[in-house]
Amino acid sequence: MSTDISADTKLKEIIAEQEEIFVRRQPKSHRLAEQAKQHLAGGVTSSWQITAPQPVWLSRGLGSKVWDVDGNEYVDLHGGYGAALAGHAHPAIANAVAEQARHGTHFAQPTPDAVTVAAELAKRFGLPQWRFANSGTEATMDAVHLMRSITGRDLIIKIEGCYHGHHDSVQVSVAPGEEEAGPQEKPSSAPASSGIPKAITDLTLIATFNDLDGVARLLDSREGQIAGMILEPVMMNAGIIKPQPGYLAALKDLLHQHGALLTFDEVKTGLTVGPGGVTRAEGVQPDLITLAKSLGGGVAVAAIGGTGPVMSHVAEGGYEMVGTFNGNPLAMAATRAMLTEVATPQAYENIEKLRQRAAAGISQAIHDNGLTAHVVTAGAKGCVVFAPDPVTNYRGFLGVDDRYSHAHWLYQHNGGVFLPPWGKIEQWLISVQHNEADIDRLTANFAKFAQAVSTRTEG
Ligand SMILES: Cc1ncc(COP(=O)(O)O)c(C=O)c1O
Repeated sequence: MSTDISADTKLKEIIAEQEEIFVRRQPKSHRLAEQAKQHLAGGVTSSWQITAPQPVWLSRGLGSKVWDVDGNEYVDLHGGYGAALAGHAHPAIANAVAEQARHGTHFAQPTPDAVTVAAELAKRFGLPQWRFANSGTEATMDAVHLMRSITGRDLIIKIEGCYHGHHDSVQVSVAPGEEEAGPQEKPSSAPASSGIPKAITDLTLIATFNDLDGVARLLDSREGQIAGMILEPVMMNAGIIKPQPGYLAALKDLLHQHGALLTFDEVKTGLTVGPGGVTRAEGVQPDLITLAKSLGGGVAVAAIGGTGPVMSHVAEGGYEMVGTFNGNPLAMAATRAMLTEVATPQAYENIEKLRQRAAAGISQAIHDNGLTAHVVTAGAKGCVVFAPDPVTNYRGFLGVDDRYSHAHWLYQHNGGVFLPPWGKIEQWLISVQHNEADIDRLTANFAKFAQAVSTRTEG
């Protein structure tokens, strides 16, 4: 795959052709998208649902599949941006939610399921104490507040290219363009959206993933001012970027040497990469962990776990961690079912087989068609990176040509596989309800796409 003019023209033609097929298959989605604009801002319920060539309106989901309003069936590997690890309408989740709904959905008082869930999370992730929230944004906001509250310091360190939700402190250098990103050895703190005050942006210092020296420099230059650091221990808002061996453990030591705390944002990784997230897989225990997305089996819930010293600060009233719907009975019932009945060792075994099948099938097609691309997987998550070598940080990711990911997404969609939109940023999610036939549809579509974009000439 080269970027010469003929490859460029070919790619443009493929995208145009596939977008036309896409729109033709979904006339009802098109009508709904237009109608929705009257009372829904932008015609959607979250800005990330505005995707080219048009938003896809869904009618239902069951098992590993979803159906759009036009009746097209998809193997769902979008998984609601990584939340549907349970698949759709999983009987254990549906029963837990229905049963709880019959007995009341909200009291703002704790219910016994919260004890079961907290104990199960402690077992899986190794941190002893937990609280709950309703979204990943709330969880990481609490974690940042807590690091500041415990240390009495205002500055935090965040990794360039990590996303932690839409609160002010972390809406910094999420996906900066080359110019706003600044020099790699000293990345700028670039606001990720309008509406974020500079006074707040300046409190978030930016480091490069897999670069310990950069973090050491920040800690030295702002000695005694940095409360802590938040990062996705495996980056998952820039494809999938893995930590280099020893990076996470060394980061923890470094921060602790300077009296600063470490938060692993496992909102996306969490249960999807394994039963106890990256934390358990890598054997590095941070001071705080945030979870959301897949935790509630598709029901909105989030959790914040902490070490004894960190959470005693909450228990003793040093920081008020609050929320009307925190730990509500519906979310707790769904999460209890997720942890005890759905995310089981057997489910992870099945996912591992499917992970291998997907990676092997796609890698074969990449090889057969001479594409400059490779597959990266982490448990139930995976993606194709259209670059020759593994990407180790955001700057490497910036250089990846996004158009191949978009063309691939269109090919999959028109071929009945729903991957998350947003090109090179997102990953697939294999749920506990997927099977080999689902993965074979993914790999067959990929092979067709690979043949179409290949510039290899025979002979
Ligand atoms: C790593 C990470 N943290 C936090 C969030 C925010 O979660 P939510 O959208 O539930 O607020 C996301 C969302 O994509 C995420 O990927």
